[in-house]
Amino acid sequence: MTRITLTRGDITEQHVDAVVNAANSSLLGGGGVDGAIHRRGGPEILAECRRLRAGDYGKGLPTGQAVATTAGRLPARWVIHTVGPVYSVSRDRSGELADCYRSSLRVADELGARTVAFPAVSTGVYGWPMDDAARIALATVRATPTEVSEVRFVLFGEEAYRAFAAALAEAEGSAQG
Ligand code: APR
Repeated sequence: MTRITLTRGDITEQHVDAVVNAANSSLLGGGGVDGAIHRRGGPEILAECRRLRAGDYGKGLPTGQAVATTAGRLPARWVIHTVGPVYSVSRDRSGELADCYRSSLRVADELGARTVAFPAVSTGVYGWPMDDAARIALATVRATPTEVSEVRFVLFGEEAYRAFAAALAEAEGSAQG
């Protein structure tokens, strides 16, 4: 059974096998988590992203999919890049957000990563309401079969932490029936 933990802090400082990057489909960097990972991880990450773009991902990484690279100078061994959906009030993209967590866990299993740190994907630049994103993230991780022993959500601020703590309590509470 995968242990789900929550922590406040910076995902680039996590001593886990893999950290998940809230990337964009270009894989060529950005702000937020993406900026922090490339800044702290160094140029090797971008070099590998460029190779992916020159190879299998010529058109970029589609929303909901995931792909791994080195973590460069980060304490982690790999970065798993995933592209969250941009929040939309008119279209329900929850499935695509759930796919980010499913795909990232699948890639983690392919790597043999046993501990994985996730940010709150899509809740920054992509505008997803934190409570809803937390609910989707936790429900998906709890429902996805994986060899990963610890999924650590790394929350950047109090609002995010409270949202995930509430969602985790609700998910575990409902599990007890
Ligand atoms: N560690 C952990 N969480 C972080 C960090 C960090 N160092 N920096 C930001 N966050 C949080 C944000 O506060 C937000 O809650 O991660 C969550 C995701 O925010 P974004 O990084 O903006 O990611 P997202 O909303 O998925 O938007 C992706 O933003 O940075 C660009 O290139 C990226 O175009 C892509 C888009």
